[in-house]
Amino acid sequence: MSASLAVRSLRNGLNLKHSIRTLSSSTAQLSNYQQPDFSSYLNHKSPQSSRNFTYFMVGSMGLLSAVGAKSTVEAFLSTLAASADVLAMAKVEVKLGAIPEGKNVIVKWQGKPVFIRHRTPDEIEEANEVDISKLRDPQADSDRVKKPEWLIMLGICTHLGCVPIGEAGDYGGWFCPCHGSHYDISGRIRKGPAPLNLEIPAYDFTDDETLMVG
Ligand code: FES
Repeated sequence: MSASLAVRSLRNGLNLKHSIRTLSSSTAQLSNYQQPDFSSYLNHKSPQSSRNFTYFMVGSMGLLSAVGAKSTVEAFLSTLAASADVLAMAKVEVKLGAIPEGKNVIVKWQGKPVFIRHRTPDEIEEANEVDISKLRDPQADSDRVKKPEWLIMLGICTHLGCVPIGEAGDYGGWFCPCHGSHYDISGRIRKGPAPLNLEIPAYDFTDDETLMVG
């Protein structure tokens, strides 16, 4: 055997010895190993704990569902609720002091024209002298006004919905040029194709100088 071969054999023998020693020490450590106690973590697996846990989860999910449903309903209802600008349009306030006697004013209410006529004593008298039995849509003037000097009507022709012209027509009231309907100084239909008097909207006088339409 050569000298180099003898040295390599000796080195291999030493490595083998070292490996055997390491394996023995690992085996000794494994034999001393103590398994941790997990019993405290597994206690909720008992039937009573399990039931409590299930009730808690079901109760929590029910609460979350109820909260979710409530917010959904509120969101849905809020879409149905009138917005602020729509509510503002629901009523229109008019200062009557700015309308002289014998003059008309037109205001817009919910997208429709509203005629406001400050009638003179002569016009009130004329409106009351009419024989209502001869009218197409019989109605006393007193049933169309809350205060005789103020006539409030929707400015929509009852024929096909045109807007009549004030201080015009054969009866000194309103005239619809679309098909020739004539309304008197109480807004009652007197001539032409319109079947009904001009409609009276909901309104009230909140004080002597203020009219609230709507
Ligand atoms: Fe007024 Fe026809 S719409 S007369």
